[in-house]
Amino acid sequence: ITFFILVFNVSPGTEVGIINVQDRDSETNKQVRCSIQQNAPFKLVPSIKNYYSLVTTGQLDRELLSDYNITITATDEGSPPLSSSKTVQLSVADINDNPPVFEEQSYSAYVTENNKPGSTLCSVTARDPDWRQNGTVIYSLLAGEVNGAPVSSYLSVNGDTGVIHAVRSFDYEQFRSFKVHVMARDNGSPPLSSNVTVSVFISDVNDNSPQILYPSPEGNSFMTELVPKAAHGGSLVSKVIAVDADSGQNAWLSYHIVKSTDPGLFTIGLHSGEIRTQRDISESDSMKQNLIVSVKDNGQPSLSATCSMYLLISDNLAEVPELKDISYDEKNSKLTSYLIIALVSVSTFFLTFIIIILGVRFCRRRKPRLLFDGAVAIPSAYLPPNYADVDGTGTLRSAYNYDAYLTTGSRTSDFKFVTSYNDNTLPISTPPFSVPWC
Ligand SMILES: *[C@@H]1O[C@H](CO)[C@@H](O)[C@H](O)[C@H]1NC(C)=O
Ligand SMILES: *[C@@H]1O[C@H](CO)[C@@H](O)[C@H](O)[C@H]1NC(C)=O
Ligand SMILES: *[C@@H]1O[C@H](CO)[C@@H](O)[C@H](O)[C@H]1NC(C)=O
Repeated sequence: ITFFILVFNVSPGTEVGIINVQDRDSETNKQVRCSIQQNAPFKLVPSIKNYYSLVTTGQLDRELLSDYNITITATDEGSPPLSSSKTVQLSVADINDNPPVFEEQSYSAYVTENNKPGSTLCSVTARDPDWRQNGTVIYSLLAGEVNGAPVSSYLSVNGDTGVIHAVRSFDYEQFRSFKVHVMARDNGSPPLSSNVTVSVFISDVNDNSPQILYPSPEGNSFMTELVPKAAHGGSLVSKVIAVDADSGQNAWLSYHIVKSTDPGLFTIGLHSGEIRTQRDISESDSMKQNLIVSVKDNGQPSLSATCSMYLLISDNLAEVPELKDISYDEKNSKLTSYLIIALVSVSTFFLTFIIIILGVRFCRRRKPRLLFDGAVAIPSAYLPPNYADVDGTGTLRSAYNYDAYLTTGSRTSDFKFVTSYNDNTLPISTPPFSVPWC
């Protein structure tokens, strides 16, 4: 027979079972000695007559060894001695004595900025050698803040798998890395847990074009550099200053002159942006020089920005009034005001038009007869549903309609209005209402 004993992780010296031995002989033949194999952490302690206690001699750890087969041999004192043995099967039951342990000391995740929300960053794994729910690991984010926002608005962790997802798109220009803590908890009661640091590193994408600080890209173009007439070749004349919010190659800027009044006169430092004369200024050089400079970053693909630089070859600021020729800003602003006036008039006209239409709609008593100027019959299939072809002629019926066309050869467009009629009114075409178009 094998006995079956179930014990919990117990300390040394704990009695885990009682063994009773019997021998039906008499005298010395009845004296019995019990022994146990030496390699198990148990011993037999004689108790009252014919009884032995099975006592542990060391700590039992289910996670090290969960089952023992203990063979107990009983030998009598007879001559020759007789013996018999029995095996006791002992199982160590689990207690929740192991917290989950992460496989790594810390985790790092690398992600390129502008990632899709929901993309997988990395996964963490923790092991718990305990049994069943005592060894079932559940992952969660420890509460914390990244840049003042809760970590849960940046990352989420799958409780069962430990896979970490980005909740939002990251911007390298906002922050380049952050840390969160992930906790692994087992399902025991009470639960045990441990935590690990996950560092997220965001890498740069070339998503910012160079920004030109000088000359100001859309400022008043009176930002003009004076170049002395006596300037020799190689003289520093001006400098284009640009920055790029990206980093590394994505922010490594190069400067090129893409257009200039006199291509041989000025050069620009490829990486410095310094504009220098390439040769001595001569009398024949035009006084007003205009350069268009392109600033490119070294990203893949690269982004660029351009600016104009106005240079005036002159020793005398009194000559500056001539600048008006270089810059046509004033003209531009006049043009802008004309455009605005034109836009406002068109909008006003359009609003009036809508109001008239609404007024006409409200005022009509019955379904008025439509006079379609030009009498174009439109197949009803092409009409929107609210323009139902009521009398079956295929003629568009509505309270109003207008026919706009551009007269060829002139920049004038005419709007023809067709007013609505009562039944007792004769359909008369109103004279076309012309609007001069600017
Ligand atoms: C104990 O014995 C049983 C059968 O007698 C066997 O299945 C089991 O593997 C043994 N366990 C150990 C730890 O030796
Ligand atoms: C888990 O451990 C607790 C003690 O911590 C114990 O009572 C329970 O039986 C264990 N559960 C299992 C499935 O072993
Ligand atoms: C995280 O674990 C460390 C030790 O690994 C511990 O000192 C700390 O209290 C834990 N933090 C939390 C919030 O559980």
